[in-house]
Amino acid sequence: MRIITTIAEAQARPGVKRCVLVPTMGALHKAHGEMVRVARKHAGSKGEVALSIFVNPLQFEPGSDYERYPRLEKQDEEFCRNAGVDLLFRPNVAEMYADDRSVFVVESSLSNTLEGKSRPGHFRGVCTVVAKLLHALSPDVALFGEKDFQQLVVVRRMVRDLNFKTKIIAVPTMREQDGLACSSRNQYLNPEERMQAVVLYKALLAAAKAGEKLATEVVDLARKVIGEAPLARIDYVEVVDSQTLQPVERVRPNSLLALAVVFGKTRLIDNIQLR
Ligand code: PAJ
Repeated sequence: MRIITTIAEAQARPGVKRCVLVPTMGALHKAHGEMVRVARKHAGSKGEVALSIFVNPLQFEPGSDYERYPRLEKQDEEFCRNAGVDLLFRPNVAEMYADDRSVFVVESSLSNTLEGKSRPGHFRGVCTVVAKLLHALSPDVALFGEKDFQQLVVVRRMVRDLNFKTKIIAVPTMREQDGLACSSRNQYLNPEERMQAVVLYKALLAAAKAGEKLATEVVDLARKVIGEAPLARIDYVEVVDSQTLQPVERVRPNSLLALAVVFGKTRLIDNIQLR
């Protein structure tokens, strides 16, 4: 595995057959491992599986968890080696952002609901860093997880509207045994919070199974299940169209139930397609 830290090194790579990129912020867990496995499938044995680790300050709102976001350099490096990553791109903040930076990538429609509403500036940060990573590494394919569904849709829009050559491929949400979606932030949860966090998936499943037709009914049902966890504070529970991310009144085959719930100091998100 080759480790590089500069954009110059990334751009000077000798002609790679087929590069598949997995962009991450590190604190790698089994969902990232699954993405590397999927990346290898798309890259083939002669292609290059690249994984980037960069805790992107631009996508954390002021006062959120940027400082305490887990940084596990050695452990992540080992993880990548074992997973079969060919290229680990690990730039630092100074390499990625000049102090007088003044150009950002702004997606101005899909970013306005759900996470974008709760975390102003978040998707500007995501789009800007993903655009920079795509420019640095020129991958043929980049993988994004459905756990961060809005991120996936926003990045797809950016790639389409700005004519990046990279193809974006979605990876289904990976879960722990009890259904909690894998996340680097799960390690912040204390044992009590961790136990109660299973209500998120329970709520999604209950809502998907119930077959309610009105969005308000689906949302009420999900809220009721989440309410069983005394430590849960709901940020939002919404039914949206999975392409436009706009709220819908009636559930349709392409509707998505998305939620964000805070346990203590930890904010968790999850979603499910309502088929
Ligand atoms: P990070 O949270 O590290 O996630 C990296 C990738 O892994 C994202 O595409 C995310 O959707 C995916 N992922 C995380 N947990 C997952 C799960 N349980 N199932 C499936 N996929 C999962 O998302 C980011 O980093 C950043 O915003 C980034 C895209 C790297 C830009 O900074």
